[in-house]
Amino acid sequence: ETVELGDYDHYMLKEIYEQPRALAATFSAAGGHEVADSAFGECAAEIFDRVKAVQIVACGTSFHAGMVARYWLEELAGIPCEVEVASEFRYRKRVQIPGTLLLTISQSGETADTLAALRDAGTDDFVGSLVIANVDNSSLVRESDLVFLTRAGAEIGVASTKAFTTQLVGLLMLTIALGRRNGLPQGREQELVNALHALPDYVQQTLALDTAIKALSEAFIPKHHALFLGRGIHYPVAMEGSLKLKEISYIHAEAYPAGELKHGPLALVDDDMPVVAVAPGDELLEKLKSNLEEVRSRGGELFVFADRQAGFTSEPRVRVLAMPHCPEVAKPIIYTVALQLLSYHVAVQKGTDVDKPRNLAKSVTVE
Ligand code: G6P
Repeated sequence: ETVELGDYDHYMLKEIYEQPRALAATFSAAGGHEVADSAFGECAAEIFDRVKAVQIVACGTSFHAGMVARYWLEELAGIPCEVEVASEFRYRKRVQIPGTLLLTISQSGETADTLAALRDAGTDDFVGSLVIANVDNSSLVRESDLVFLTRAGAEIGVASTKAFTTQLVGLLMLTIALGRRNGLPQGREQELVNALHALPDYVQQTLALDTAIKALSEAFIPKHHALFLGRGIHYPVAMEGSLKLKEISYIHAEAYPAGELKHGPLALVDDDMPVVAVAPGDELLEKLKSNLEEVRSRGGELFVFADRQAGFTSEPRVRVLAMPHCPEVAKPIIYTVALQLLSYHVAVQKGTDVDKPRNLAKSVTVE
């Protein structure tokens, strides 16, 4: 399949901009107006009725989607959830909670470690296996009991963008399907469905910030390190933001849960270490403010991605990017889109091979 680049300079940018369409296509292919069990396969209802816990296994960006989903599954569906990278999961002696659904997440459906995890896990210990994948008829799709196909379309850029955000649509739909069986109120379910409907529009509003994000990105070009902070569900968003930056710009980036800043990474903050905070609401920023003086006095600079209604303004050494106001469940997606753009612009200005970063492969099919 040949995918045209069109007016875009890189596939990655094209794929970032395709997200409103990809998200809408994923939701509408799976029902559109409601979340039906059948969106996950014919025998989904029968398997979902028996699910007491979820074990997520994935690699790379898909692992980060699983990390986000853990917060949704536990908070909204009341279902215990573990998330592990496939290369660890497959080699570890595990104790499985009875009634666990094995959930693999994979853009390609061919990642060797994820596939081996599914194969090695066997079916005995699990109520069934579900894959969220972007490639139909891939190995993971063929070998799983249940399938949710994301409709991201072909993703060419090695650094995953639209596959991640469409995976989150599938994961939120799974949360609703399982939550319904576990006391998720009807009204809450409707709010989540409404948020899924509105998602493409919030992403579009985020894409409109491209020029402002490009302006922020310039500060990163001469840097060798960057620190990403987030709290709660925005911690995995920070992880994904830092992965994107290191993958394509070769800047060493690390993500920390914000509360851990003072337990180590603060020692590294100086004028060579920009700090990116994924801070939609004021709780995180209020807490960060106590560390801020320290960051500032060391010459550090803070880049805060915050809800525009949270009322933050830029001040010396704190640059705020005002993000669209949106429902909580849409936030991990739109903040990720903003961080994708940040990495993209840093990489382009550094002159790296954005679509094919050195040493990395789109799909890792050997161990
Ligand atoms: C490689 C790619 C990543 C991807 C990961 C998992 O490392 O470069 O972008 O997230 O594999 O791939 P999968 O196809 O399983 O999602």
